[in-house]
Parts: sequence; structure tokens; C-alpha cells
Amino acid sequence: MSDADIQRAADLRDQLNRYAHAYYVLDAPLVPDGEYDRLFNELSALEAANPALRTADSPTQRVGGKPLDAFAPVRHVIPMLSIRTETDSGPGGAETFDTRVRKELALTEADAPVEYAAELKFDGLAISLRFEAGVLVRAATRGDGETGEDVTQNIRTIGQIPLRLAGVTAPVLEVRGEVYMRRDDFDALNARQQEKGEKTFINPRNTAAGAVRQLDPKIAAQRPLSFFAYGLGEVDGWTVPATHSGMLDALAAMGFPVCADRVVAQGAAGLIAFHQAIAAKRDALPFDIDGVVYKVNARDLQERMGFVSREPRWAVAHKYPPQEMLTTVEDIDVQVGRTGAITPVARLAPVFVGGVTVTNATLHNLDRIRELDVRQGDTVIVRRAGDVIPEIVGIVAERRPMVEEAVDLVETRTVPQYKPFEMPTACPVCGSHVAREEGEAAYRCTGGLVCSAQRKQALLHFAGRRAMDIEGLGDKLVDQMVDAGLLRTPADIYKLGIVKLAALERMAEKSASNLLAAIETSRNTTLARFIYALGIRNVGEATAKDLARHFGKLDGLIEAATQPDEAAAIAALQAVPDIGPIVAQSIRDFLLEPLNVEVIEQLRAAGVSWPESEPSELLATGPLLGKTLVITGTLPTLSRDDAKALIEAAGGKAAGSVSKKTDYLVAGEAAGSKLDKAQELGIPILDEAGLLALIGQTS
Ligand code: IVH
Repeated sequence: MSDADIQRAADLRDQLNRYAHAYYVLDAPLVPDGEYDRLFNELSALEAANPALRTADSPTQRVGGKPLDAFAPVRHVIPMLSIRTETDSGPGGAETFDTRVRKELALTEADAPVEYAAELKFDGLAISLRFEAGVLVRAATRGDGETGEDVTQNIRTIGQIPLRLAGVTAPVLEVRGEVYMRRDDFDALNARQQEKGEKTFINPRNTAAGAVRQLDPKIAAQRPLSFFAYGLGEVDGWTVPATHSGMLDALAAMGFPVCADRVVAQGAAGLIAFHQAIAAKRDALPFDIDGVVYKVNARDLQERMGFVSREPRWAVAHKYPPQEMLTTVEDIDVQVGRTGAITPVARLAPVFVGGVTVTNATLHNLDRIRELDVRQGDTVIVRRAGDVIPEIVGIVAERRPMVEEAVDLVETRTVPQYKPFEMPTACPVCGSHVAREEGEAAYRCTGGLVCSAQRKQALLHFAGRRAMDIEGLGDKLVDQMVDAGLLRTPADIYKLGIVKLAALERMAEKSASNLLAAIETSRNTTLARFIYALGIRNVGEATAKDLARHFGKLDGLIEAATQPDEAAAIAALQAVPDIGPIVAQSIRDFLLEPLNVEVIEQLRAAGVSWPESEPSELLATGPLLGKTLVITGTLPTLSRDDAKALIEAAGGKAAGSVSKKTDYLVAGEAAGSKLDKAQELGIPILDEAGLLALIGQTS
């Protein structure tokens, strides 16, 4: 081994460690991945030839440890404390803490506000990292606070954790903080698990904790973990800054990730402002928190205050309402949607989660129920974050209610009290047959307009803004009118009179006459709106427009779709641009149902009308004729609807999702997965100016 090799290895270690810091901590890579890999391979080769060069701070040592039988215990020289939690999650929580601090410091009203460091309470697990002479030598869990477990091999795999400190070579420096998993990393991990057909994880916190306590470091390395530093343990040979905030700045300068969402706050008012500001952005954070933490900023004051039973008097956790809670499934039943889709729903013992009381959670479909293995009687974890609908993310298997069952005359065994959920074979609303279509996760009621569940939804869809646009005909009113027997089909809407309407509960005469006026106006519509309003399965707005444009007249469409020769009918419908066999079949099925045709006739008889034209004259022209475009993200000046209208006026079609048939993607700000997909498929991408140029309107 030459001096040159020793020097080269040291240079490579430094360079790679700097690149890793820029990449993982600053999120601002200095070199392309390929360059990192090249240097990494060079260092690996050097070390393979000269094993003595393989130092503890070498980036090649992050992965590769052998599986352990058990973790070695680690005694914490400075115990790892916990924090007292304020039970009041309102502003009172901050005030109580500040009052207590002022009392313990014997401050009077004449004294200035206490200065605090306010930061986030990360929802992961605490880790103590020991650096000797600036090199990471050990990582330990908190354990009982006195003794933890040596999880160094797993912690080394976390790219955000420095293997060598920048600019500090003190004999001992223990840095403490939280290992956690970002939500996007968690989702991606679950997607990978699902692809492999393996069990998905329940939440980022448990997944992070499981990864850290994984005996095989190769498995830990596949779980994407992150880290935030927030404190110190044993220190020898390094001058600790005089304030907590100064200490965090120093840790960031050494190369640790320190969360940017932190402030130095004055008094209770400053703490309350921080608590509220973070509450407002909690759901937008890329990771879970369960509250914020306040710490007296000055170290000399912290020392004066000391500890009670493993908790410092100078720090407190101020929580937010929980986003995950346990509750029990009282029953699983099903809901019938507008298109007849039958969705299983868990009826829950009421639970306060994410700031609201939750009593129901959708279970999506039978596949999801089987995946969760959820049954009546189970204890489940319910999650509600932000405005997202409440979800069951997992079950607590050991709390499943069990009963004794006789095997024979002498023996018994314990079995689950409740059987696995089965989909009903008859619609719970109308009793019609329930069918599952091939290749589809959803089960459906085949009852169509006979089914009152579908009827209410069908009426709402019919009256919707993008359909017949009857303002004021909302869900409460539709419920009331269907229940009172005033409405059965959309045609009944046009038979309503002021007397019947005003007789409804909570219906003032003024709103009744407004509604009648809106109904009157809706009689003059367009063929595309009318077709869309019918609520034919798989026929959205774009398809309705295509159909209207192609056939020009409703009777033309009905004739083509209902001709006795099924193959000819499907072919006639597929002649419409972008209509495939499934959509064609739904249109035919709908129009073959006598009840549906009767409703159409009644609507026409009630005076609903639209301009009709010859199919041939309607063949649109324009620069986008025959082209399908998809819009994604926010465009600088055009709204979604404006852009759609421009595309359609130019003879093109605006579709909702990217496929091989897409001719252009129009992408604005914050374009997401559609952009990725388009790039993958090699579809040309336009910005707003590009779109305008294409249709001959320069911006
Ligand atoms: S300081 C001086 N700061 O909360 C007290 N802890 O009960 C030592 N935690 O196990 C902890 N975010 O895992 C501190 N910003 C933060 C924290 C934090 C989360 C966790 C930590 C600890 C528990 C305290």
C-alpha cells in the first residue's frame, strides 16, 4: 500500500462524504449520480486491494454489515430523557408551560418574556449518535433511557447521517435526534411492497422503528429513513453554545440535518403563534409530527431548572389532535353509488381523529378488505390527515374477538367470532342482482334507475353544473323530494310546480320560485350536455361531446346504438373518435333499457330541447381535428375550462388521462404524474404558449 493510495483513499472519502451531505441533507446535489458512483467504485476497489484503508468513516461501510443475532446493550452516560406533554392542545398548553417556567425561575410580571426555542415534535424514534474524534462510532436507541440497543449497522445506512463531522474532532460528541420516514418515501416503499406481493406497512413511524430494529442491515438499507438532530448527550472537548438555537445551528454546520421549521420565540405569545403556524402547515409537511416542542433557549437557565423524574423542567411537548386513533368496527356494510358501484363501508365506534368525530370509513373494495384482513369486531387504526377522507390503515390482530368452538364432543378450539366479510349477492337498496365485471375491482348493482340509491345520485348528476345545470337542486333537496315521492326520474323535475315545492320542509317560497326558474332555463340545452346528463356509465363529458358531434341528432345515436345486430351497433359507436368497445357497450346497454328510453321521451315531451344538426355538417374542422390533448398542472393565464374550450373549438378533444392515444400534453405549474407518464410515453409536451401557438392564437 503506497502513500499515494492512502492519500487517494482519504481524498475520496472526503469528497464522497461532501457529495452525500449535499445530496441527502441539503437536497442540492453537487455532481450527477454517475460521478458519485464512479468515485465510490474507485474507493471500493482501493479498499478491496488494501483492507487497512477501510476506515469507519468510509462511505463504503454504510451497507454491508452481517445480520446480528441480537443487539448489544449500550449504556447512556447521559440518560436519554423524555419530555412532559401538555394535555391542553389549545393555546392554554403554551400558557401553562410559560407560567410554570416563570415561577420556577422566580420571575415577576416586571421581568421580560422568557426566550424559547420552538421546534417540531417529530414522530419517529430517538437515536443517540456517538462521534469520537469526529467519526461515527456508535448509534443507540433510547431503550429505557438508561440503556439502549446498539443499532450502528442500521443507522449507518441512513445517507443523511454524517459518518464524519465537518470541522469537529472533539474526543466525544454525542448527538441526539429522531430517525423518521418521510411520507413520500413511505408511500413509495409500500408501492414497492405491493408490486412484490408483500405486506404493506401501516404508518411511517412504525416502519421507521421496525427498520432501525432490524437485525439484518441489508433489509434496513432498503427502508428509506431520514434524520433530524435536536440535542446532545455526552460531550468532551467541544464548547457547547450558550443557547439551544445556537447549538442547533452548530449541528447543522457539522453536517447534520436540522429541521428548518424552528424559531426563537419570546414568551407564551411567541409559542402560541408558532403552535398555530405549524398547525396550519402540518398536513403540507413531508413527514408526520404529533406536536411541537418548546425548550427554554438559554442553557444556563436550563441548568438552573433541572429535571423531575426523567423529564427536564425546561422543555415541554405541545400536541395537536391525533391523526391516527384506535377504534372498533361495529359492522361492515355496503353503499350503492350513482353508477351502482357497491362500496363496502366500515361502521366504527365513534372516534375523534384528525379534528373530527369519525363513524364511517370506506373500505374501497373487496380486494382492500382482504388485504387489510379486517372483520366486524376488529380493533383498527383509523387515520384522517387534513381533508383526506378517513381511512383504515391497519388492524390490531391480537385484539380480534375470539370464541370457543366445539371440534367434537370433547375438544374445543378458539376461532374468530366473526367470519370474513362477503359481498352481498343482492343490492341492499333495491334487491337487484349484484355483478362483478371482469377485470374490475368493483361490484355493481344492475338495477339502474329502478334502484333508489342510484336514482338520487342520477338526479344529482343530471342537475349538475356540467350537465343540465339546474342551480339549487342539491343533495338535501333531492333526498327530500325522492323520499317524499315527488321525484322518481329526471323527467319528474320538469313536472314540479310551486305548490308541491313550497310544501317541502325548509323550502321558502322565494327559493321555490328560483328553483323553478332554473329548471325552466335548463330546458334549452345542448345535445352534448343532455347525453352527459343521462349518466351513462363510462360516458363522461368528453365522450358526450364526441357523440353529439358525430351523430348531430339524438335519434341518430339511439338508432345506431340499438340496432338489432349487436356487432353493427358496436361498430357504429366505435366509429366515433376515441370510443372503444367498453364505452360502446355501456351506451348500447343503457339505450336498450326500456326504462331509460322512456325517461328520454318524457324529457323531450316536457320540452327539453337542443339544436340538432346533420351529422355531416357537424364534422368539426380546425387545427386540432382528431387530436387528443391532456391538460395538467396550473397554466399561467388560462383556467382549465378555458383551455378545454379552446382545444374543443379548434376541433380537438381534451381528455382526462394520459395514454398512448394522447397527442399532446399541456403542462403548467406543479404538473405531477401525468407529466411523468407523458415523458415516459414520449408524448410531446406543450406549455400554454405552445398550445396557443398550435391553435394559431399567439399569446
Ligand atoms: S428533546 C430534553 N426534541 O419525543 C428532552 N425530543 O418524549 C429530550 N422528540 O423520545 C428530547 N421531536 O424521540 C426532543 N424536537 C424534539 C423532538 C423530540 C420528537 C421525541 C423524542 C423523545 C420524545 C420525548
